[in-house]
Amino acid sequence: MGVQREHWPLMSAADVGDARRAVHATARACGFRTADAVRLATAASELARNALVHGGGGRMTLSQIDDGRGIRLEFRDDGPGIDDIERALVDGFSSAGGLGHGLGGARRLVHDFEIESRAAGGTRVVVTRWRR
Ligand SMILES: Nc1ncnc2c1ncn2[C@@H]1O[C@H](COP(=O)(O)OP(=O)(O)OP(=O)(O)O)[C@@H](O)[C@H]1O
Ligand SMILES: [Mg+2]
Repeated sequence: MGVQREHWPLMSAADVGDARRAVHATARACGFRTADAVRLATAASELARNALVHGGGGRMTLSQIDDGRGIRLEFRDDGPGIDDIERALVDGFSSAGGLGHGLGGARRLVHDFEIESRAAGGTRVVVTRWRR
């Protein structure tokens, strides 16, 4: 009861934009305040971009949980994985000449953040934000 799921491909910059907009629209439809919808959409955009840029493309699963009181987002890719997750979360660390604020920033914008990664086994990030 009360779980709705949608799958979004993350294979291009346009897909990242679509995923971001879907998260924002769903959060608003669930009654999230505008600023909170923006927070979740910003986290989604960073994680989607990581799946695209570092993971070689992936997909996002968007789930409304507990009848829309929360939104859970799962990002998966089959890329090279993250060998040192703690280091990757540190602001300013980037293996790719980026600012290195995406992963740590995304973690601060959600209520729950889980990351699983294996060398050559891809990366899975699951985040949840609750309506306030
Ligand atoms: N899905 C992923 N697959 C493999 N490595 C990843 C993935 N997501 C993040 N990483 C690693 O973690 C590092 C930190 O990610 P983060 O998003 O913080 O910075 P960035 O993507 O390099 O730069 P930006 O600030 O533009 O996001 C990346 O440089 C990369 O090495
Ligand atoms: Mg990034």
